[in-house]
Amino acid sequence: MDINSRKTLSNGVEIPLIGLGVYLSPRGESTASAVRWAIEAGYRHIDTAAIYGNESSVGEGIRTSGISRDQLFITSKLWNDDIRKGRTLEAFKESLSRLGTDYLDLYLIHWPAEGHERAWQVLEELYQSGSVRAIGVSNYHLQHIDELEREAKIMPMLNQFECHPYLSQGPLIELCRQRGMAYESYSPLGGQNGTILSDPKIAEIAAKHNKTPAQITLRWHLQRGSIILPKSNHKDRIISNSQLFNFSLSEEEMNEIGNLDRGIRTGGNPDCFNF
Ligand code: A2P
Repeated sequence: MDINSRKTLSNGVEIPLIGLGVYLSPRGESTASAVRWAIEAGYRHIDTAAIYGNESSVGEGIRTSGISRDQLFITSKLWNDDIRKGRTLEAFKESLSRLGTDYLDLYLIHWPAEGHERAWQVLEELYQSGSVRAIGVSNYHLQHIDELEREAKIMPMLNQFECHPYLSQGPLIELCRQRGMAYESYSPLGGQNGTILSDPKIAEIAAKHNKTPAQITLRWHLQRGSIILPKSNHKDRIISNSQLFNFSLSEEEMNEIGNLDRGIRTGGNPDCFNF
């Protein structure tokens, strides 16, 4: 495994295991720079969303990176209001325009908002027309996947959800495996105000390997088969968050980190969200 390693989705499309996350990364130069630093460090995958408000800055970072579009894997997400209003096609085109691209590598339904089954039909059409290389969902639990699959012609290729050592999501990962969906972890480091990076057990394992707590946490995700989307606006962290391939965690260490689960969610709960 290295920074260029990819996972093959159910339709054969390859997705890089590490993507730069940009949730809460402000619109403007700081997001554009983060994207450029990530690409310079070897990242080829950027994960944004319409609701983040920074698609145009991601686009700016990509355009000024010197890397051609076809070398990159770009994800965006359809926001809840657009799902509810039946504006999927319009919202998709707006995302493309802000990003300055004419296709996406992956387009996700951001949350299972009312009307998501209808939105999925539009994603299927976008996929069939070649405007998107792969389609999937985010924040889906079993009942949401079932709702979608009842009417779907094409099954979601991937599910992206909050996952980190304090919310380790074992059953949801197992469900994704059973349904042939890849899984992506957002807030893999526990999010903006998380305390995972100062957890004593992770610090102890980090000291043993001479790595940072962030590297230990990200390596844990990779060893359980997850695609990771660490967010940072700092160049040194963007670089070190991708240096995960010259060490590995033992089974015991993997279990120790897995045992830190305490059901702490930093974002919304898919079973009861009101946004
Ligand atoms: P910053 O953008 O200031 O670097 P997540 O990926 O779980 O959403 O977590 C991101 C949070 O963790 C951000 O607040 C980010 O802040 C911080 N972060 C990202 N990488 C590291 C790192 N290597 N060490 C410490 N904090 C980090």
